[in-house]
Amino acid sequence: MERKYIIEGGRPLKGVIEISGAKNAVLPAIAATLLARGVYKLRKVPKVRDVFCMLKILEHLGASYKFQKKSLIIDTTNLKNFSVPYELASKIRASVLFMGPLAAIFKKGEVPLPGGCAIGKRPIDFHLKGLSQLGAKITLDHGNLVIRAKKLKGTEIVFDFPSVTATENLMMAAVLAEGETIIKNAAKEPEVVFLGKMLKKMGAKIEGLGKDTIYIKGKKELRPVEIEIIPDRIEAGTFLVLSALHRENDVIVKNVNKEYLKTPLLKLEEIGLKIKEIEKNTFKVERNKDLNPIKIVTAPYPGFPTDLQPQFAVLLTQAKGVSIIKENLFENRFLYVFELNRMGANIKVEERTAIINGPTLLAGSPVKATDLRAGAALVLAGLCAENTTVIYNVELIERGYENLVEKLKNLGAKILIEE
Ligand code: EPZ
Repeated sequence: MERKYIIEGGRPLKGVIEISGAKNAVLPAIAATLLARGVYKLRKVPKVRDVFCMLKILEHLGASYKFQKKSLIIDTTNLKNFSVPYELASKIRASVLFMGPLAAIFKKGEVPLPGGCAIGKRPIDFHLKGLSQLGAKITLDHGNLVIRAKKLKGTEIVFDFPSVTATENLMMAAVLAEGETIIKNAAKEPEVVFLGKMLKKMGAKIEGLGKDTIYIKGKKELRPVEIEIIPDRIEAGTFLVLSALHRENDVIVKNVNKEYLKTPLLKLEEIGLKIKEIEKNTFKVERNKDLNPIKIVTAPYPGFPTDLQPQFAVLLTQAKGVSIIKENLFENRFLYVFELNRMGANIKVEERTAIINGPTLLAGSPVKATDLRAGAALVLAGLCAENTTVIYNVELIERGYENLVEKLKNLGAKILIEE
């Protein structure tokens, strides 16, 4: 993990940035290619570490893939293996997304039980309970979840919490199950809706996408598809925050779907920023006065996304007064605070609440990324801080941000990669 970014901060940025396809839409889409043998084409796929991890697992199961510019061609004709190896799965929690499709297509599967991660325990009990309700027998054998099912039969599943990947996993299991499956308290994130649309294009019968209850009528078989990946709302939010970080920034962000960012855009306006849609899906953020402190409470979609709270925290270190961030999804999502405080921020963490006193001058320092979004926040902080910031563990950032250094250099940022 010696790869690092070296940033000379405090400089105004100017230019145009194009948002890539959504990592969290591609990952379930890759798993969904198990559901019908054949050749798929996913357009606008971001070349990020998490995507390559999932593709390596797909190759291990017998599929093949190749990139044609930004399109990803996947061929699952020769799928033959149903066991996901630990050394690949341990690199990415989204490997759990193979459970549903493996159960659906092979009626068996072996997927390592995911370990914890920096931001929290992240149990998968909803996934396991839902698959068992569909008729799968799941046992834990030497760290591996062993799934066996004579057949999958539709049923009613109620989630205690609208889990994104649990909703995705159970949708993928249910589309080939016998009869109707009803998923209540389903996740409504755009990436979940995208997966549902992909499955419908494959011939699945799904109603209620983006609502609390999803209705699925099992089919005998599905067919491969071609589909375009939706833009990454978290990358978009990250760059909209970046545009506001320096008074003289003049940054245009393209390929933004404002429907996906309603709450974060309202919060930017509450902070006192002007959001301008200068043409369709192209936005500029103007900062022409002091930033107001605000309160942010993270929640499932369409609430404020947990994946944007670290980035907003950096912006709020520049607001005049006390801001509050309440993190309701993950129990350990403030690790970045200790890194920001080393740069001069004044943030206190009390359980799941961060109290941010601003404005504070951020000074360049050596810091380390603790998770993907925390790392992105440190890049923003480095660009805002005076002098040099060195960020370690940047592989974590490259899991979800395509060509980040190149995109920032195109805005005039002084940023270098050092191995
Ligand atoms: C997805 O993770 C995203 N990852 C996360 O993005 C995102 O932060 C999260 O949704 C919330 O929006 C992908 O889509 C690949 P959850 P996921 O299941 O599905 C609890 C990023 O930076 N829970 O919606 O794992 C869980 O502990 C990543 O791109 C259970 O208790 O999140 C958490 O408190 C980070 N049991 C809450 O639900 C379960 O079986 C929400 O988790 C499942 C979840």
